[in-house]
Amino acid sequence: MTRFTSLALGAAFLSSLTYALPSNTPLNTPRYNNVKNNCGPPPSYGTPHAISRAQAVVDVFKTSWDGYYTYAFPSDELEPVNNTASNSRNGWGASAVDALSTALLMGETETVNQILEHIPTIDWSQTSDEVSLFETTIRYLGGMLSGYDLLSGPLSHLADDPANVDALLAQAINLANNLSYAFETPSGVPWNNLDFATRGNDGSENGLATVGTLILEWVRLADLSGNETYRSLVHKAENYLIAPSPASSEPFPGLLGTNINVTTGLFTDAKGGWVGGSDSFYEYLIKMYIYNPRYELLRDRWIAAADSTIKYLTSHPVSRPDLTFVAAYDGTTLRLRSQHLACFDGGNFILGGQVLGIEKYINYGLALVEGCHDTYTSTATGIGPEQFAWDPTSVPANQSGFFNTSGFYITDPSYDLRPEVIESFYYAYRATSDPKYQDWAWEAFVAINATTRVGSGYSAITNVNAPDGGDFSNFQESFWFAEVLKYSYLIQAPEAEWQVSKYGKNEWVFNTEAHPVRVSH
Ligand SMILES: *[C@@H]1O[C@H](CO)[C@@H](O)[C@H](O)[C@H]1NC(C)=O
Ligand SMILES: *[C@@H]1O[C@H](CO)[C@@H](O)[C@H](O)[C@H]1NC(C)=O
Ligand SMILES: *[C@@H]1O[C@H](CO)[C@@H](O)[C@H](O)[C@H]1NC(C)=O
Ligand SMILES: *[C@@H]1O[C@H](CO)[C@@H](O)[C@H](O)[C@H]1NC(C)=O
Ligand SMILES: *[C@@H]1O[C@H](CO)[C@@H](O)[C@H](O)[C@H]1NC(C)=O
Ligand SMILES: *[C@@H]1O[C@H](CO)[C@@H](O)[C@H](O)[C@H]1NC(C)=O
Ligand SMILES: *[C@@H]1O[C@H](CO)[C@@H](O)[C@H](O)[C@H]1NC(C)=O
Repeated sequence: MTRFTSLALGAAFLSSLTYALPSNTPLNTPRYNNVKNNCGPPPSYGTPHAISRAQAVVDVFKTSWDGYYTYAFPSDELEPVNNTASNSRNGWGASAVDALSTALLMGETETVNQILEHIPTIDWSQTSDEVSLFETTIRYLGGMLSGYDLLSGPLSHLADDPANVDALLAQAINLANNLSYAFETPSGVPWNNLDFATRGNDGSENGLATVGTLILEWVRLADLSGNETYRSLVHKAENYLIAPSPASSEPFPGLLGTNINVTTGLFTDAKGGWVGGSDSFYEYLIKMYIYNPRYELLRDRWIAAADSTIKYLTSHPVSRPDLTFVAAYDGTTLRLRSQHLACFDGGNFILGGQVLGIEKYINYGLALVEGCHDTYTSTATGIGPEQFAWDPTSVPANQSGFFNTSGFYITDPSYDLRPEVIESFYYAYRATSDPKYQDWAWEAFVAINATTRVGSGYSAITNVNAPDGGDFSNFQESFWFAEVLKYSYLIQAPEAEWQVSKYGKNEWVFNTEAHPVRVSH
């Protein structure tokens, strides 16, 4: 295929992302570690209170799994209102694969083995729908790699048949091999939307998050399988993101536009933020450094993005100056709006601060956690909305009072069983040991349980600010299993090697779908 000149730019950085790892690479050498970790009360996990909460989350997991297993398995999702099945993720059993690591951490042996029996039977080449490289990577590939890491490591006693553990890696390899033609573009920036039947693609641009949220899973697969091609494919793509071009697509140092032409590798806009479409690119910059401290270049890009976020995107609503939100941007113009999806940002700042030993990131992350907590406590259901804004010039008349009290107004009132707010409570708790965050996660969980429970499971709802949640959308997302139930459980659960370390030395790192992956040794 024709190679374009922008490749030269990528090639300069390729060398820094291409290396053979010495086997004795030290883990997460705490280069900047000056954080005082002795503040705050002692952890309250292990108290009877936390144990009973953790068990209540396991009970909800069992209810959700039973509904799915009875009415939808091995389809992708349960439609709980009328007990039917949905296949929004190519029909390979998305909820099952996404539930595996949660079932493992909860010690739900029967469910673990039901899932392990299914995975070897999946034929990745069979699907009638478009395949998303990003969604398939974070849910299926991430789910299987995490299952493999846990079952070939600390949870090996949970598998009835060791052959099913080996099959996790074999199936991850099969899946990656089916997906890998996505990278056969002129630039090496992959297509996202694939047609397996024809080895085709939809010809459209790709995005920052969908390109930038592959590297952890594909590098892990390279390390586990020994096939270096997986690493070189994602390194080549990542190079366009860490040295973005044109310069106008980086309106603030480290903060980028969203859309990328896969022919040229050039960005085509300068819009973005920590919102959907960009979000997990930033998340993975620091997580790759946790995975392997030799990703210093990605760490430095995270620091640049974090510093610019603090300097340029920090926003306090006029009606609630005590709250801190992160604005989105179009060029250097700020857009005073955000999303439930973006509420992972507090947790990511906290994680970065812990790992780098830089307290200002932890404190900033904790402020963002307060803001996202407010989006939950302000509504009639106690659940935060899908989208919200705080632009004082655009407040809808019928939300004026709400805006005055809450500091934001709702621009999309649905709730899709998303995890990000509870995810950030989890990181806040792990960093501070302050039981306030356990309480917040529990209150959110109780509200979600009360509002979204229907029929044989749990469903997305249409209106978080109606006392009953509005209508049920009749859809139980696979990330309900992977993320909401996992973070709600882990924040109350006992200490374990996969829990995020208070001291910034992590043995596991969670992918963006909350699948814990063992860091590189
Ligand atoms: C169940 O609900 C889904 C989605 O709301 C709908 O598409 C489907 O036709 C329904 N099936 C039955 C059998 O009612
Ligand atoms: C795609 O996956 C299937 C198994 O699901 C495997 O038989 C096939 O070889 C894979 N294709 C490639 C190109 O690896
Ligand atoms: C390594 O992965 C690439 C990309 O999927 C694949 O084409 C190649 O066959 C694999 N190599 C081996 C030795 O399996
Ligand atoms: C990407 O860039 C190529 C080469 O400049 C151009 O022909 C193509 O139309 C662009 N693609 C999109 C989707 O804009
Ligand atoms: C506010 O008004 C809009 C437009 O008329 C309407 O769609 C919305 O439901 C109203 N919201 C509330 C909270 O009353
Ligand atoms: C909200 O505050 C603004 C500015 O102080 C005020 O003009 C408006 O009347 C208030 N809205 C309500 C419903 O109290
Ligand atoms: C969840 O809801 C069910 C009823 O739908 C209830 O029995 C259970 O106690 C609730 N759990 C929590 C943690 O609120």
